[in-house]
Amino acid sequence: MKKSLIIITLWMLFIPVISIAQVTYQKEIRSLMEAKCSKCHGPQAPLIDEFKKDKERFAKENIGPRMDSYPLLLEFVKGKDAGAIMRRLDDGKSKEDKKPGNMYVYLGKDEEEKQKNLKIFKDWVGSWNLKRKADLSEDELKKITAPQ
Ligand code: HEC
Repeated sequence: MKKSLIIITLWMLFIPVISIAQVTYQKEIRSLMEAKCSKCHGPQAPLIDEFKKDKERFAKENIGPRMDSYPLLLEFVKGKDAGAIMRRLDDGKSKEDKKPGNMYVYLGKDEEEKQKNLKIFKDWVGSWNLKRKADLSEDELKKITAPQ
């Protein structure tokens, strides 16, 4: 009796550890970005400042700003361009107009894969906020985790 109680207690201690295992950049996001986004946001792409100078031309050639490292990507999550990742990858379901962000399409080959990968991004970011940087409060910014 005593022994089985100990076993059950130990079990319960482990369950939360398993279920809150964090999504991190190194574990999941880096390879996901490589597979789905690097064609246009990889090492060949211009840095954001350079991109901004000639946005129209780059966009026409289907070249986006470079995002192939943790610090580069973080700028679009909670840095200078905070919220951009969320706005672009959102599936639109919680929005009034139901329009997905224009990068949602690249998340997968079908709806199922897109939803699965969107969930990984959501878990990583921690707080999915579609606001622009200027409209984000300190508190909302703090809730965006996106661990390395
Ligand atoms: C076929 C090329 C292509 C692929 C693949 C692609 N993107 Fe993009 N992305 C672009 C282009 C071009 C722009 C700039 C034009 C625009 O703003 O729509 C852009 C813009 C963005 C922006 C906005 C950057 C800013 O200036 O604020 C984000 C965020 C983004 N992409 C994320 C992603 C993510 C994440 C993926 C992978 C799931 C991805 N993109 C896949 C071409 C691509």
